[in-house]
Parts: sequence; C-alpha cells; structure tokens
Amino acid sequence: GRCVVAVDGPSGSGKSTVSRRLAVDLGARYLDTGAMYRAITWAVLRSGVDLADAAAVGKVAGEVELRIGTDPRGYGVTVDGVGVDADIRGPEVTGAVSAVAAVPAVRTLLVARQRDMIAHAGRIVVEGRDIGSVVAPDADLKVYLTASEAARARRRSAEDAADVAATAADLARRDRLDSTRTVDPLRQSTDAVELDTTELGIDEVVARLRELLTE
Ligand code: CDP
Repeated sequence: GRCVVAVDGPSGSGKSTVSRRLAVDLGARYLDTGAMYRAITWAVLRSGVDLADAAAVGKVAGEVELRIGTDPRGYGVTVDGVGVDADIRGPEVTGAVSAVAAVPAVRTLLVARQRDMIAHAGRIVVEGRDIGSVVAPDADLKVYLTASEAARARRRSAEDAADVAATAADLARRDRLDSTRTVDPLRQSTDAVELDTTELGIDEVVARLRELLTE
C-alpha cells in the first residue's frame, strides 16, 4: 500500500545514506529533494543571472526542464537533457544553493513537483529540509536526523575528500542560511521523531526507522 517516509535534517546528519538504504530495504522509491534544489542552482549559475535577483532566479527555475529519477540504487538528474549528477555536488553549486533555495518562487515550483512525484509513487522515502513540515505533512513516518557539528563535518569531509575545518565552516554557513530564510526554513516538525546519529552506525539508524514503521 501507500507509505511515505519523510527524512529531514541538516547536512552530514546521515540523511542521504540512511534514506537510500531504507528505501532499498522497503522496496520503495527514493526522492532526493536537495538534488532538485542543486539542479536548479546549476541552471541559475549557467544562465549567469544575478543570484540576488529573485525574479530572475525564479524565471530560470520556471523555464528549465528538470528530471530526476527515484531509484534508490542510482538515480540520474538532468537539466534540459544535460546530466548534472557530478556538477551539482561541486563547490560552485554548494556555495550558491542556499541562496537559490530561499527564493519563494523556486520553492513553490519544486514543492509542487515533489508532491506530484510522491502522489504517484506509492511507497517512497523523501529526504530534505522541509518534507515533514511542508511537502508531506501527512507522511506515515517523519524523522528528523541530527548529529553533533563535529560528526557532521567529519562525515561530509570524508565523502568529499575535503578539509574538515573548511567543511565545518561551509556546513555552519548553510545551516544558518537554511534555518533563517523566510520561506519554509529548516525546522524540526513537532510530530517528527528526532534521532541523534552522532554515536550510531547506518545499520542502527535504518533498523530504528524500520522499527518505528512497524509500531
Ligand atoms: O546533502 P547536503 O545536506 O549537503 O545538502 P542537500 O540535501 O543536497 O541540500 C542542498 C541545499 O538545498 C540545502 O542546503 C538547502 O539550502 C536546500 N534544500 C532545501 O531548501 N529544501 C530541501 N527540501 C532540500 C534542500
């Protein structure tokens, strides 16, 4: 039957790894909403419009054709037919994504796309920043993953083969922008189950979520 799992939390909380693993275990689809914001950001950077010009950013977002797969074992993201999987993880996009994600027109557009994909999916694990609060407030399970700043910086810098201090600074900068923006800020919804993953392995987190689903 239908089952929607909303996984929210800041960068490095383990969201992506845990969400993909849970989706594979459940035989469910998987939606990485962060990749959608990153893909729109890639298009905005390509267009050359001023990031501070919300109207221009919103116009680019409305004009591009964004496609994203939902296979948890491997999904592709394309913008106007161009594969952007590698580019959207690069420093240029990471540096600009929080500004683009703060533009109301961008959020309206992507939230509508996300809701549509969820409605057609049946079983799906959706990860992001506003899934339990805005995109899928009626989800069957809402989780909010956290971890200490040090653990988050350590994990993310290992994934990116980047310097820990620089990564920590980037995470702190994005957390601040994501949690203080005026539309749909990163926030734990009151009915989400909070899980601190600082001392937990991936298997333990996935097992805990499966338990919560059967409760
Ligand atoms: O993987 P990481 O935590 O680095 O980031 P992500 O999930 O790929 O999301 C990148 C950025 O997109 C975040 O820093 C937010 O600015 C934005 N985002 C958002 O605003 N709402 C979402 N549902 C998902 C991402």
